[in-house]
Amino acid sequence: MAEKLIIFDTTLRDGEQSPGASMTRDEKIRIAKQLERLRVDVIEAGFAAASQGDFDSIQAISSVIKDSVICSLSRSNERDISRAAEALISAPRKRIHTFIATSPLHMEKKLRMSPEAVFEQAKSSVRFARQFTDDIEFTPEDSSRSDLDFLSRVIETVINEGATTINFADTVGYAVPTLFGNMIKALRDRIPNSDKAIWSVHCHNDLGMAVANSLAGVTIGGARQVECTINGLGERAGNTALEEIVMAVRTRRDYFNFDVGIDTTQIVPTSKLVSQITGFIVQPNKAIVGANAFAHASGIHQDGILKARDTYEIMRAEEVGWAANKIVLGKLSGRNAFKQRLNELGMGLDSEVEVNAAFARFKELADRKSEIFDEDIMSLVSDEQQSHTKEYYQFISLSQSSETGKQPHAKVIFSIDGKEAMSESYGNGPIDAIFAAIESVTQTGAELSLYSVNAITAGTEAQGEVTVRLSKAGRIVNGIGADLDIIVASAKAYISALNRLHCKIKKLNPQL
Ligand code: KIV
Ligand code: ZN
Repeated sequence: MAEKLIIFDTTLRDGEQSPGASMTRDEKIRIAKQLERLRVDVIEAGFAAASQGDFDSIQAISSVIKDSVICSLSRSNERDISRAAEALISAPRKRIHTFIATSPLHMEKKLRMSPEAVFEQAKSSVRFARQFTDDIEFTPEDSSRSDLDFLSRVIETVINEGATTINFADTVGYAVPTLFGNMIKALRDRIPNSDKAIWSVHCHNDLGMAVANSLAGVTIGGARQVECTINGLGERAGNTALEEIVMAVRTRRDYFNFDVGIDTTQIVPTSKLVSQITGFIVQPNKAIVGANAFAHASGIHQDGILKARDTYEIMRAEEVGWAANKIVLGKLSGRNAFKQRLNELGMGLDSEVEVNAAFARFKELADRKSEIFDEDIMSLVSDEQQSHTKEYYQFISLSQSSETGKQPHAKVIFSIDGKEAMSESYGNGPIDAIFAAIESVTQTGAELSLYSVNAITAGTEAQGEVTVRLSKAGRIVNGIGADLDIIVASAKAYISALNRLHCKIKKLNPQL
């Protein structure tokens, strides 16, 4: 009998800690619903004590998700734990995930606490958390650089206090697979009550080994939960990529012999949704979810595939949801077909009014573009939902002119807090002129640190999706805009980034 490998998704918490990846409550709810469709076992919905926004998102996700366990991170103190418990109140299945750093370096330099004080705090926090739920996860942060004796003492004690999952973290992506697996095995062997908890791994990808380390933690160390994120999103170089873990275990079931509860056909739709909401583009050669992951460009390979698929293909594109990437609707499609496709994509809108508004956008797009793909639908629904949130800046229209030998000029009309504004500027190029025009009125002083354009689908008729990253006073935000005209998409993306900068909510990073 194959054992179950628990898939714990932390896209909404650790993934959101990537600079610029912050998401609104509604965006998080959309991702959480998609994660449930993907059938992840645990959704880490955020860090409740980080901000009122995080708290509200966890609370909202707790009341809409029925199947997955909902988890909130908390530092090891009573205030954080109480906040987490309060945010999780309506979740049918809830988990409190509490952590404290245990490596000598983190204890001395970051926490400025003695090992004894850390030990006591870990113990009392798990005891405190137990009054709210039986499902308690404890992470010794920076586990892989912690002392084995100290870790053993802490872990044995927190299990005695009621921790049900022990999450071994390679916080800085320093681990090497065999050593990492052996360290977990050594701990499990020497801690007398180690079998009273499920062991988990949480790996960062700084040396590109997060997936390999996680799998070593499972095979050598005996972990039965893997923490991961969609597209490997996460702090710095990111986390273990969910799609890679799941497909490795599934494709090499002969070796790993684990069951995962994931509906793999939802992998690509989930990847696209996360990429589209965060503005973090997936590199084409990314395993499983990259645009080229199943493209066989070389003639020899194509020939092999035609003779027998498994000559060069170890997985089927359809198995991970690439089949969904097809023409779905056109100009003649009716409202019912559109609504049904929305539901299939997991984008069921809350009211008929919203469906009508999205359908009107769809018709408008279908007039300009003959083939409408799933990605187009996802993008127009995002636009529609965004138009309901009272944004401080709102794009209205623009005109732009470029001619060889002349300096490009742009005129942009947008609203600021409901009042219409018009601005004009020249620039080095059309995009520069647009951004300069917007900046001349808004005077934000933000710096542009990334500008990228991606075609949402194939073909010259494709919509362009633009990501703009702005930074100001240490804050980094991403804005996304999509349109058939990439100049318009750029203006929308810039304004979307300004809105995120405008939102002043301060968020605590749990690990600082
Ligand atoms: O990387 C890490 O150590 C973490 C913990 C807070 C789980 O994200
Ligand atoms: Zn982490």
